[in-house]
Amino acid sequence: MKISSCNNVNDFRELARKNLPSPIFHYIDGAADDEVTCKRNTAAYDDCFLVPRVLRSVETVDLGIKILGKKISLPFFLSPTALQRLFHHEGEMAVAKAAQKFNTFFGISSLSTIPIEEIKSISSPKIFQLYFHKDKGLTNSMIDKCKSNNIDAIALTVDTITGGNRERDIRTGFTSPPRLTLKSFLSFMFKPKWGLNYIFRKKFDLPFLSDFIKEGTDIKISVSDYFTNMLDQNMSWKDAENVKKKWGGTFCLKGIMSKEDAKKAVDIGANAIMISNHGGRQLDGSRSPFDQLDEIIDTVGGKIEIICDGGIRRGSHILKALSKGANACSGGRLYLYALASGGEVGVTKAIENLKNEVERDMKLMGVTKINQLNRTNLRFK
Ligand code: LAC
Repeated sequence: MKISSCNNVNDFRELARKNLPSPIFHYIDGAADDEVTCKRNTAAYDDCFLVPRVLRSVETVDLGIKILGKKISLPFFLSPTALQRLFHHEGEMAVAKAAQKFNTFFGISSLSTIPIEEIKSISSPKIFQLYFHKDKGLTNSMIDKCKSNNIDAIALTVDTITGGNRERDIRTGFTSPPRLTLKSFLSFMFKPKWGLNYIFRKKFDLPFLSDFIKEGTDIKISVSDYFTNMLDQNMSWKDAENVKKKWGGTFCLKGIMSKEDAKKAVDIGANAIMISNHGGRQLDGSRSPFDQLDEIIDTVGGKIEIICDGGIRRGSHILKALSKGANACSGGRLYLYALASGGEVGVTKAIENLKNEVERDMKLMGVTKINQLNRTNLRFK
């Protein structure tokens, strides 16, 4: 299959499966325990239906929104995700350049595989995903780097207080950097193109971390063990407030799932919350972001921006979340399979597919602006 024939996220998923050594594919694709939450994240949208309006002159539609202090041209953006050069040698740069073409936010993770300086001049807005490390020098150095490198918003990740039970990673032995075991060796051998890129392109690195710790670059470690061992399990609301103060810019909490915590986010003056269960990779059995949206919006809607992060595979999923009252949508796998399929070209096509779907579906819904969507156009059977 070619990039040009990938019409949706699932097509890209199949192409990624073909391109990647299996431990890496399963790292992206996998989730915690029985992966029930991961499946529900997407299935939840199918329990909800749109009620279209007609005869409303929809030739010109505007997909733009304002979120995290920026005007972007799409109602969805690319969530921060880790280790991108393992998926394609262009890594984070591919994602940044694709986002730039569409003027939408893209994320860069604490576990980025390129230095933050490389994306400094990208014109589209950037959200940095902060992991609150035990090593406070490391955590603070990341905030400082955000300040000097044109980062527009920080998302403090609050759902990784310990590592999720990712059994696919345990089975395949996936680590950062990749560990060659007898079993994984074969899967790497079967993907020689990936292997040659890994060996001959720029050496794998996690530049935010490498001045401070060896885990992830010199010491091979699973992502779950990384969270468990390196992050501060005592992180509290006070810490979140202090990060916000130290940063001083647009501040978001990523991984809020309850209305009680949404209220607390308002109390500490956060600008936004990403309703997210980390793609089902942390607490299996937790509710899906789309299912949780209503009660959170009913509690804090209008007081803080609400981003629905998780499970999105179709433009119609975005329309449903926005109809409930989310201010924006975001996702990781929706562009990661495409990154693995073809770098910048892949991510560009993935965004274009979703953009076209949102635009077509808006016309079919009879709306020309995102703020015309609301709960009156939703039903639940
Ligand atoms: C994950 C982190 C790194 O693997 O976002 O879920």
